[in-house]
Amino acid sequence: MLQFKDDDLYIDQVKLYEIAVKYGTSVYVYSKNQIVQNIENYKKALKNKDGFICFACKTNSNATILKNISKLGVGADVTSGGEIYRCLHAGFDPLKIVYAGVGKTEEEIEYALKNKVLMFNVESFEELDLINKVADKVKIKAKISFRINPYVDPETHDYVVTGKKGTKFGIPYKDALKAYLYAKKKKNIIISGIHSHIGSQILKIAPFELAAQKIKRIVNEVEKNGMKLEYINCGGGLGIEYEKSQKAPSPEKLVSKVLQIFDVFYKNKKFIFEPGRSIIANAGHLLTKVIYRKISDKKNFLITDAGMNDLIRPTLYKAYHEIIPIKKINTKKVKTDVVGPICESGDFMGKDVMLPLIDQGEYLLITCAGAYGASMSSQYNSRPLIAEVLVENDKIVLIRKRASYNDLLLNEV
Ligand code: LLP
Repeated sequence: MLQFKDDDLYIDQVKLYEIAVKYGTSVYVYSKNQIVQNIENYKKALKNKDGFICFACKTNSNATILKNISKLGVGADVTSGGEIYRCLHAGFDPLKIVYAGVGKTEEEIEYALKNKVLMFNVESFEELDLINKVADKVKIKAKISFRINPYVDPETHDYVVTGKKGTKFGIPYKDALKAYLYAKKKKNIIISGIHSHIGSQILKIAPFELAAQKIKRIVNEVEKNGMKLEYINCGGGLGIEYEKSQKAPSPEKLVSKVLQIFDVFYKNKKFIFEPGRSIIANAGHLLTKVIYRKISDKKNFLITDAGMNDLIRPTLYKAYHEIIPIKKINTKKVKTDVVGPICESGDFMGKDVMLPLIDQGEYLLITCAGAYGASMSSQYNSRPLIAEVLVENDKIVLIRKRASYNDLLLNEV
């Protein structure tokens, strides 16, 4: 939780200034309490229901973060062999790992089978063929769900829409039954469930409900054709309030509205939700230093030591992250572009932001960057990956060391 005490911004009981001085900048800072709280919200929502959440670990795959999340007994949604590796390393129960992705390779499929993940969310007929073949080779039957594209537009950023007609994801709605009938004939496949994930940063409940209604229709059709589905996986996608003007539904509301649609199945099915952003986004922030200020043709710039390689969301999705000086400054506010050191005009953290007059050397917090922040970072411009710290009440733990110049050359021959 972020709050000002006197003139200083704190995360839980730790002054952000203290982190900046001790660990240097830029640095990702996470609140353990916030993560736990966000997970509790989902658990409460699923209380008395046969179901669990699988944390979408693409949002944040730091080993310590994952370890803390796995300890809470939840599962994981993975999308590559590397994510399976990380989740097993973090102690997730493989029987709570679900594996989606349009491009699973033969090696990844074998790795998933040998490590006994709960199921594959299959996204094409050819993928099913390959899973069947690999399962035969390793003599382990593969449990599958089909990921169905329900043709629902979640009205979010184009790049994170997945449930609309014409995207690369899942089996098209019209082919759903055909896919299950095809799978029924495969001797190494165990049909286990159904999956849909319509997109990300979704701020309305209606698209989730619409998708659920369509999935329910398919479940009925599939079961009429003699197949039994044990799991209904409703995907992730719940948005968060990056801006004060946004209103995000609570996990409780999402889960209860969606499960209402499936109520006839309560007795004989298990339900999975795959939240990512709504677990970790507001628990993490990017702390950065203003290295220089300049006025260029009447435009105010603050140049920070965080760049688009550390947080790509503003430039990639035109995403808004509120930027707060970590010391209260009571000057008038001026329109400011907060930009990074990278050689591209797309390298910005915020454009036309109203900020007080900030001195060189002051620190800024780029908020709600816990999801798809560090996990999407790169070494572009040969900038070593930055440090990450986890705060628990009044304690700070370093959970990723700042990389060195030497690390830049790792694996180069
Ligand atoms: N399940 C599946 C199959 C997914 O593909 C995703 C995210 C999730 C669950 C979790 O969705 P969430 O609850 O986090 O919305 N990099 C983008 C978002 C990409 C979303 C990818 N899939 C961003 O920074 O906004």
